[in-house]
Amino acid sequence: MPKDARLIVSSGIAALVIAPSLVIASLVIYTSVMATLMYRTAGESHGPALIALLEGMPHGVPVDAELINRELLRRQGGYGRGGRQKIETDIVQFLAGIRMGKTIGSPIALMVPNKDNRLDDPAATPPLHRPRPGHADLAGAVKWLTTDCREVLERASARETTVRVAAGALAKCLLKQFGIEIFGFVRSVGDATGKFSVTPANWRELLVLRDASEVYCPDPAADAAMKDFINVQKQNKDTAGGICECHIFGCPIGIGSCLTWDGRLDSRIAAAVVGIQAFKGVEIGMGFDVARLPGSKVHDEIGFDPAQKNTPSLGFVRKTNNAGGLEGGMTNGQPIVVKGAMKPISTLGKPLASVDLRTKEKSEAGWERSDISAISAASVVMENVIAFEVARALVEKFAGDSLTEMRSNYEHYLKAAGNLGES
Ligand SMILES: Cc1cc2nc3c(=O)[nH]c(=O)nc-3n(C[C@H](O)[C@H](O)[C@H](O)COP(=O)(O)O)c2cc1C
Repeated sequence: MPKDARLIVSSGIAALVIAPSLVIASLVIYTSVMATLMYRTAGESHGPALIALLEGMPHGVPVDAELINRELLRRQGGYGRGGRQKIETDIVQFLAGIRMGKTIGSPIALMVPNKDNRLDDPAATPPLHRPRPGHADLAGAVKWLTTDCREVLERASARETTVRVAAGALAKCLLKQFGIEIFGFVRSVGDATGKFSVTPANWRELLVLRDASEVYCPDPAADAAMKDFINVQKQNKDTAGGICECHIFGCPIGIGSCLTWDGRLDSRIAAAVVGIQAFKGVEIGMGFDVARLPGSKVHDEIGFDPAQKNTPSLGFVRKTNNAGGLEGGMTNGQPIVVKGAMKPISTLGKPLASVDLRTKEKSEAGWERSDISAISAASVVMENVIAFEVARALVEKFAGDSLTEMRSNYEHYLKAAGNLGES
């Protein structure tokens, strides 16, 4: 906990004795000074632009715009995408919070313009009265008391993930300063599954294979089978989903928290993943299989290797990583491993049954330009929303106004933690 936050906590305890109103005031002040990283997005699919507003990024972080734009380009790619990606060229523009390639500690505003900007043209964005199953259309139209699903779908659209990727890629710029790296890919599409394991030693080779794959899967045989599956869906005017996977390397032990349910890093990662449009499940480490096995086959025994003492794991080693790098909501020095399940795209070329909201008469669902599969893009989104959550936990643990201060807190902690039991 930073020194000034400690001061406010103790003044909060003193206030408890003096007057309850002061307690509330102290808690409000405490909440407002607790360092965290957050963001919010705005923008419609066919509005002028998408924007993200970030707060809490420390001063002095080098911003790698090329990295951010590369992630935006990857989000636009993948096998089975629809026509929208041919129209757009997503490039980030920074409007605030960055000077000469570095963050300056103030809120950061970033924007990605939409070329397909036609929200105010009624002919180009006609009303949609026949809600598409699997979309926000029906629930949103009823919620906002309209028979036109247009405004709901404009905001619910995954076009919004563009700026979530930009925000996450900016968070990656911070993680890079602490040697934390993330590798995301597509594990399966339909019944085609990549057969490979990821380790700290082989992930860079896999990354090269992933970048050579149209589906973003580093197993060439699986890549071919995934494309076949997507082609079959296209012929049948149907759609595909799949599973994305993400590995995070280099996290020090102890980021996240076991103190509160929403401070747990596993809880935040799960929320970030299911917060992506069309994601319906998350697994950490061994995932749902833990429920089927005895404890002796699940929990990762702890060892110590002095040769690894000066790494972020501090030398605490495991032969297995079934916990996926997280125990008690905190990092345990092993790589974080996350899987996310994406349902098949909801807009089908052969529309499903629906009703017309104006008449309640049976009708075919409306149609909007759509992907057959967006699993590759979704893997990029998942990688970047997880990056943001890891960066957030890092900022909370090593709070500092500047990168210099944060780094010094980080080094001080690693030294103290490394000396545990040795005094
Ligand atoms: C990267 C990405 C691209 C997507 N593209 C489409 C698409 O082209 N057509 C479509 O119907 N759904 C698409 N989706 C899924 C919908 O946005 C999503 O199913 C819908 O907003 C309803 O949300 P829900 O599935 O979370 O309930 C995409 C999702 C992601 C993550």
